[in-house]
Amino acid sequence: MHSNETRGEARSLSPICDFVRAYAAKDPVRLHMPGHKGAPILGCEALDITEIDGAGELYAAEGPVAESEAVAARLFGCPTFYSAEGSSLALRAMLYLALFAGDRPRRARPRVLAGRNAHRAFLTAAALLDFDVAWLLPAPGDSYHACTVAPADVAAALDGPDAPFDAVYLTSPDYLGHMADVAGIAAACRARGVPLLVDNAHGAYLRFLSPSRHPMDLGADLCCDSAHKTLPALTGAAYLHVRDAALAGRAKDALALFGSTSPSWLILQSLDAQNPILDALPARLAAFLPALEAMKTRLRAAGYAFVGDEPMKLTLDARAAGTTGDALAAVLAREDIACEFHDPDFLTLMPTSWNDPADLDRLEAALTAFPRRPAIPEAAPPFVLPARRCSVREAMFAPRVALPLGACAGRVLATPAASCPPAVPIVMPGEIINPAAIARMRYYGIEACAVVRED
Ligand SMILES: Cc1ncc(COP(=O)(O)O)c(C=O)c1O
Repeated sequence: MHSNETRGEARSLSPICDFVRAYAAKDPVRLHMPGHKGAPILGCEALDITEIDGAGELYAAEGPVAESEAVAARLFGCPTFYSAEGSSLALRAMLYLALFAGDRPRRARPRVLAGRNAHRAFLTAAALLDFDVAWLLPAPGDSYHACTVAPADVAAALDGPDAPFDAVYLTSPDYLGHMADVAGIAAACRARGVPLLVDNAHGAYLRFLSPSRHPMDLGADLCCDSAHKTLPALTGAAYLHVRDAALAGRAKDALALFGSTSPSWLILQSLDAQNPILDALPARLAAFLPALEAMKTRLRAAGYAFVGDEPMKLTLDARAAGTTGDALAAVLAREDIACEFHDPDFLTLMPTSWNDPADLDRLEAALTAFPRRPAIPEAAPPFVLPARRCSVREAMFAPRVALPLGACAGRVLATPAASCPPAVPIVMPGEIINPAAIARMRYYGIEACAVVRED
């Protein structure tokens, strides 16, 4: 058992794991859910329990989960809550908290100012919570994954004709590894009394850099992190961080509003078990990141270019190397190297310090062996903001029909046409699909859309 001496009393750093291991060690008669009764079908069933007596509940304020969350809160330096359903759940909860749980005066329809590169889960939150969205637009030439907005852009929008807003919502880092100026944008929001929410799904590890580059340390009010993306946690493990104490008191209710009543106890153990490991993460990152940066420098010398400034992500600009991200992914796949994401323009790789150093050697060898060619000038068709016909909720809850892309011009998009990864839509539900959007979707391989039925 890991323990932490606090005011003379020994406190476990992994209370959820301690409980489940002690329970499994007794080899009890399991007359509760789940139905596998601990039988080793996958191999992990003995540790897969549900909210039995003593285990407590994920959404209760006491018991092993709350104790473990207190450990995580110390590590992150702010009130921190677990999600066993990814950042998808945590970001719905943070939008609910920002728009409906505070004591700010309520408007009939809350309005959120959001970066256009929002993940599909943001759209489902807009549908469920029925808020309006005004978009911060990408810079010309930005990929649809990116939305490089400066503090002055946010300030201008907050003071502009679409104001007032109830929250600002940013995705940082984005799928390609661009990081927003969260500190500057937080200052602009604070000066106008508008909370800043950050989808930090890709950046849980930023807290453990020296100095921290985590959004909560840079001034965000609410933030979600997918622990499973960059920390050694099981898929589905995520955090919700809340600055304001009163809102933190509502966080579990907010998560319970959208979450399952049967959260995965394996995922909760994974979050719990990694807390003591996170204590040592700064040293681990300090050893890992220079090696990664050195490899990037060698690959640059070999003719590759990278986009983004997130330290742990490798996003290759495939066009600059005379190829496509899809072709590079196929080259790596032949070497049994599996990437995170690829499209015509980019190849995204997400190494962590849990990769074997030999993994990076294999990657470098495969990329170096691939012949670089003259840069391909072709670029994605430009973005033209589609006109909006109705709210996200109206569009997502409307009767719909699937149409081939060529038949979609002038129709209202019903549900995001965005596969995962990266699950970033090009057209948003409720918007009228314009010819530029069709050209852009075709470029990215989208062949059909669900549109609102007109009959
Ligand atoms: C930017 C972004 N936000 C949110 C999510 C949702 O996170 P999760 O998969 O943890 O639910 C993702 C998932 O890929 C993402 O890329």
